Amino acid sequence: MDTTRLSHTLQKALNDQMTKEAHAAQVYLSYAAWASDQGFDGVANFLFRHAEEERNHMTKILEYILQRNAKVKVVAIPAPGADPASISDCFDKVFKAEVDNTKEIYNIVNMTLEEKDWATWNFMQWFVKEQIEEETLALNLLSKIKIAGGEKASGDALYALDRDLGNTPDDAKSAEDVTAATP
Ligand code: FEO
Repeated sequence: MDTTRLSHTLQKALNDQMTKEAHAAQVYLSYAAWASDQGFDGVANFLFRHAEEERNHMTKILEYILQRNAKVKVVAIPAPGADPASISDCFDKVFKAEVDNTKEIYNIVNMTLEEKDWATWNFMQWFVKEQIEEETLALNLLSKIKIAGGEKASGDALYALDRDLGNTPDDAKSAEDVTAATP
């Protein structure tokens, strides 16, 4: 009797996504090292913490594949791309990476719908919600650099932004937690 509770298609999609989350962690690590090297320790701190979050995402998927009695395939992680050209470019790249990741998550959700695999659909809802937060965090970064002057941001503005980011929480406020009294 086949005791695997995941189709081959979803097993592959989840394994691929696991590698993508690991890749995201490596990308953020490389950006963090770059930011630290440039003297932006606050930005680096934020990105180091974010790399950890991506590793948590990877582990979550790995655990789920195992829980469904399917095969985990740990493979090589593609190398991150080039370093950002500036803080503004760095935040642009972070936003793009998160939007791309949301698309990958949605693809898997579509597959679960096609297969009527409601267990995996339910599991993936955590990631759908998480991506709202991840995109919000990335959008907040873009807003901050825009206010600071974008590519033309002064040294003072970048200094203040860097200091603030070192203390930025890992989670963005979720619309689901909002009330009229605490918008
Ligand atoms: Fe794992 Fe930033 O999404």
